[in-house]
Amino acid sequence: MADTLTITDNRTGRRYEVPVAAGAIRALDLRQIRTAPDDPGLVSYDPGFQNTAACRSRITYVDGARGELLYRGYPIEQLAEHSTFLETAYLLLAGELPGADTLRAWTREIVHHEMLHVKVKTLMGGFHDDAHPMGIFLSTMGALATFYPDARDVFDEGSRRLQILRIVAKAPTIAACAYRHLRGLPYVDPDNTLSYTGNFLNMLFRMTEVKYQPHAVLERALDVLFILHADHEQNCSTSTMRAIGSAHADPYTALAGAAGALSGPLHGGANEAALRMLAEIGSPARVPAFLRRVKTGDVRLAGFGHRIYTVCDPRAAIIKRMADLVFAVTGTDPLLEVALELERLAGEDDYFVSRHLYPNVDFYSGLIYQAMGFPPEMFPVLFAVPRTVGWLAQWEEMLLDPEQRIARPRQVYTGAARRDYVPRDKRKQEA
Ligand code: CMC
Repeated sequence: MADTLTITDNRTGRRYEVPVAAGAIRALDLRQIRTAPDDPGLVSYDPGFQNTAACRSRITYVDGARGELLYRGYPIEQLAEHSTFLETAYLLLAGELPGADTLRAWTREIVHHEMLHVKVKTLMGGFHDDAHPMGIFLSTMGALATFYPDARDVFDEGSRRLQILRIVAKAPTIAACAYRHLRGLPYVDPDNTLSYTGNFLNMLFRMTEVKYQPHAVLERALDVLFILHADHEQNCSTSTMRAIGSAHADPYTALAGAAGALSGPLHGGANEAALRMLAEIGSPARVPAFLRRVKTGDVRLAGFGHRIYTVCDPRAAIIKRMADLVFAVTGTDPLLEVALELERLAGEDDYFVSRHLYPNVDFYSGLIYQAMGFPPEMFPVLFAVPRTVGWLAQWEEMLLDPEQRIARPRQVYTGAARRDYVPRDKRKQEA
């Protein structure tokens, strides 16, 4: 049987045959379907891009019905168990796991780029004392474009590679400075002898000690959390990165936009919202009343639900297991009981089950971050740091894809038909 789709337009009685490849028809093939010569042709209407593929990608695969997440073909569970964040970052960006020498060289290069220009720090110091760290993070990322004008040459392979190194290396430094700013503490320079996440903890939490020694369990926990957050195919912020990048803007500017999308409570801001929600509920006994409010549409369950997963998010399951390891070091957070009760009761309630509302990556991560000493405002930043890798991998893939064009969706116009301008004194008086 041919891989085609036959469409009958009942408005005209005409039949069209359009090719189907890899489970997709080309939206442009719909344009030939017209009712008259001046008809611009059929479009598909898809607010929120719920069923529109905007690219071919070889980076990340999500099977929402089976709860499967693969980076370059490797299951997330195996990477979380055996890999490190920097190795996974290399995998996502380069397509293959690195050999020992390549990983050493890649790590060395990242370490080399971790410091910030002193004027970047001055710029960060200009924010209000209580500025949200996500606002500081994305503004500073955008500002880096003015420090590295060579980034505008997006079709130069060497320039792209340099910007990728700079961004992956400087993201934790900027994030740590944003945190220190919030706390009114002096910024801490990177320590090149520590791992990527060990150094991040150093830049965040070092006080007067000569050498900061990260706790091995917390360092590994953060590394695993970073692996889990590194990419998630065409989500809102990644699509933003691709859309801004499709205009050939430099990667710092595109990434500032992507981080802006991530900051929203429906996306990466959900971890902060989830922790605040658990605190508002306060105790397991108050969960049923809160769920009743959710069911009347009064509030949403932060950290629940997903556009793609119809079963539990595989990242949430890994995070839940990791929480036990972290709590063994830091002590248990009483809000864990609230979270477990919420998950249990929602899992027994047809309202949530029928809508496929299960915990997502943002439900338990906040509890771990809080136990590690982060204030809720930092949670979206902790999502953004590792996601820089996914954004950059997807940005480069988009730039090198000859099929890609500037992002420019269509619309279905529902406004006024053409009409003539009415002089001000001839308009109807306002009531
Ligand atoms: N709490 C209560 N009801 C919900 C929720 C929720 N968290 N999520 C979806 N629903 C309901 C929604 O009201 C709708 O019900 P009905 O059919 O009766 O109108 C139905 O489920 C479908 O919801 P939707 O808004 O059409 O689903 P969507 O695919 O557009 O939205 C989502 C996906 C993640 C934005 C949404 O589930 C949500 O708002 N979740 C809370 C925020 C959150 O946790 N975001 C993090 C997502 S995972 C990490 C990331 O990518 O950032």
